[in-house]
Amino acid sequence: MGHVPLKVKKAVFPVAGLGTRFLPATKVLPKEMLILGSKPLIQHAYEEARAAGIEEFVFVSSRDKSLIESHFRPHSALHQTLTERHKTAELASLQDSTADEGRISVVYQDEPLGLGHAVWCAREAIGNEPFAVILPDDVVIGSPCLAQMIKAYEEVGGNLVAVENVPRAETCKYGVLDIEHDGGRLISVRGLVEKPEPAQAPSTLTIIGRYILQPEVFDHLSSAVKGVGGEIQLTDSLAKLIGVQPFHGFRFEGKRYDCGNSIGLLKANVAYAMNDNAAVGPLAEFLRDALNSNTASQQYSRAL
Ligand code: UTP
Repeated sequence: MGHVPLKVKKAVFPVAGLGTRFLPATKVLPKEMLILGSKPLIQHAYEEARAAGIEEFVFVSSRDKSLIESHFRPHSALHQTLTERHKTAELASLQDSTADEGRISVVYQDEPLGLGHAVWCAREAIGNEPFAVILPDDVVIGSPCLAQMIKAYEEVGGNLVAVENVPRAETCKYGVLDIEHDGGRLISVRGLVEKPEPAQAPSTLTIIGRYILQPEVFDHLSSAVKGVGGEIQLTDSLAKLIGVQPFHGFRFEGKRYDCGNSIGLLKANVAYAMNDNAAVGPLAEFLRDALNSNTASQQYSRAL
């Protein structure tokens, strides 16, 4: 009989980055509080994890980002006002953003030393069990990504990283797979390279911000040294698990948006609204008019 992998019950949300690509918006406001539709990015990530069966949510944050934790706390004064005014829909929205007592914990990364270091900061909160990592600024629209990964993990166990193809010119922005066997949905991996120059990239299949990992990754993160960009890279420690534990790339359904920069967040908002029955009509009309509104946009429109 096959070995049943341990259930994934905890997820880590690294939110301690500086968000420099979004300055000045992120001078005071955490990047993860930027809005997609009517919710901040961190709430989308939280709901995606909850829908995938995650029970404990570990935020790796910095001390000046307390807004993120506050967002999930009960707001009794607002709750009371909405109740008195019989605002049922608004009350339901408020409830959606309130986490059950004790489900969210916060650990601090005092210096933004890199994603690998951020994940390492969660080691005591995770303990000796498999866990998910979600980067809230990577948003997948169309189909909840983590739930797809948990399903695949239940078949293959080990470590799973969500992957997508990018144009070769962009490999220098991502962790890239050295592919052993491309099985379509699941890809077995020979190695990983962080941010390779396009000419050196072993493939164009890159890791996005969704992972399912085994706790042994903490052993490697404990002794991790600075990698590309002077940061402690998660990819470098993941690479050490290959050949020791099952390790797969996972091609997910849906489309991923990099909401860590303004054009990416704008595209994600448009895509999100296109799935909203109330918004799609007015938005499509607006976009048609906008494409015809000046000479530059008309040129693009004709070229499409
Ligand atoms: P990014 O690469 O997007 O970095 O991090 P960043 O600092 O947030 O943004 P830029 O590049 O300066 O604009 C990816 C994810 O890892 C987290 C970030 O919060 C983000 O969710 N992160 C990154 C940390 O938690 N700590 C770090 O030291 C670095």
